[in-house]
Amino acid sequence: MSEAVERVLDVVTETAPEIRAGLSGRREYETAENPSGDQMLAADVHADELLEERLLSVDAVAEYASEEREGTVESEGGHLHVACDPLDGSSNLKSNNVMGTIVAIYDEPLPAPGEALVGAAYVLYGPITNMVAAVDGAVTESVVHSEDGGAERHVVDEDVTLPADPVVYGFGGRVPDWPADFEAFVREIEQDLKLRYGGAMIGDVSQVLEYGGIFAYPALQSAPNGKLRLQFEGNPIGYIVECAGGRSSNGEESLLAVEPTELHQRVPVHVGNTGLIERLEGALAE
Ligand code: AHG
Ligand code: MN
Ligand code: MN
Repeated sequence: MSEAVERVLDVVTETAPEIRAGLSGRREYETAENPSGDQMLAADVHADELLEERLLSVDAVAEYASEEREGTVESEGGHLHVACDPLDGSSNLKSNNVMGTIVAIYDEPLPAPGEALVGAAYVLYGPITNMVAAVDGAVTESVVHSEDGGAERHVVDEDVTLPADPVVYGFGGRVPDWPADFEAFVREIEQDLKLRYGGAMIGDVSQVLEYGGIFAYPALQSAPNGKLRLQFEGNPIGYIVECAGGRSSNGEESLLAVEPTELHQRVPVHVGNTGLIERLEGALAE
C-alpha cells in the first residue's frame, strides 16, 4: 500500500470516532438539500466538514468531494482525489440503526472511473466501529479503537473474502417500482436466500461480505439510474466487493467500467457473489 493511501485511511480512522460521537444531538434535518436532492441531517454536514478539513490537510490529497456538496474542493499539490459519502444510511439515525462512512481514493481528477481507484474503504458504525479497506486487490478488516483523543485501527482479518455459498440478499426501492425483469430475478433467488435489508448500504454490504449473497439498489421504473451515486457509493463498494472475490454490476457491466459523466451521477448498484451477479445480468439481458 502506498504511504499516501495509508495516510488517507489513517485520517479517516482518526475521524471516525468523532463522527460517531457527533451523531447524537444531530438527528434533525437541515433546511438545505444535497446536490442529489436528498434532505441532509445535521450529522451529514458535521461528518462532511470534519472529513473535508482533515483530508485536505493530507499533502497527497489534491481534491475532496462528497455527496453533500455541489463541487469539489481543491488544494495545492497532491495526486489523490478523494470522494466521500460522509454518512451512508443517515436516514437510519432517527431509528438508531447502523450507518457508515465511505471513502473512495482515485488517482485521477473527479469524476473518475472506478478503474482509477487506488483504494476504497468504509467505516461501519455498528455495535463495533470497524473499517473495511481494499487496497492493491486485498481487503482488510480492522477494529477502530479510540484512545485518549486519538484513534487506531487494529487488523482483525487481513484477507476478507466472500464466502463461496451465498446466504443473504437485500434490495432497495419499492417492489411495485422494480422493473419486471429485476423482480423475476428476485422471485427466483429468494427461494434460496435469507432477506437482510437494513436501509444503509454499508450495513447491508457488510452482511454480504460476512455471509455471502447479494445487495442491490436496482434501476427503478421511476428512476432508471437507481438511487446510489457512482463516485461516492457505487465505485468504492464495487471495488471492495471485487477485491473480496465477488462482482459488481450496473446491470450490464462492472461498476468500475461505468463511464463517469458528472460528479453526482446515479447508477444501479448490484454487488455480491459472482454467480448471483452473472444470473442477474443474464436476467436483465433477456
Ligand atoms: P445516504 O444516507 O448516504 O443518502 O445513503 C442512503 C442510501 C443507501 O445507504 C441505502 O442503501 C439506500 O439509501 C436506502 O434507500 P431507501 O431508504 O430508499 O431504502
Ligand atoms: Mn449513501
Ligand atoms: Mn450519505
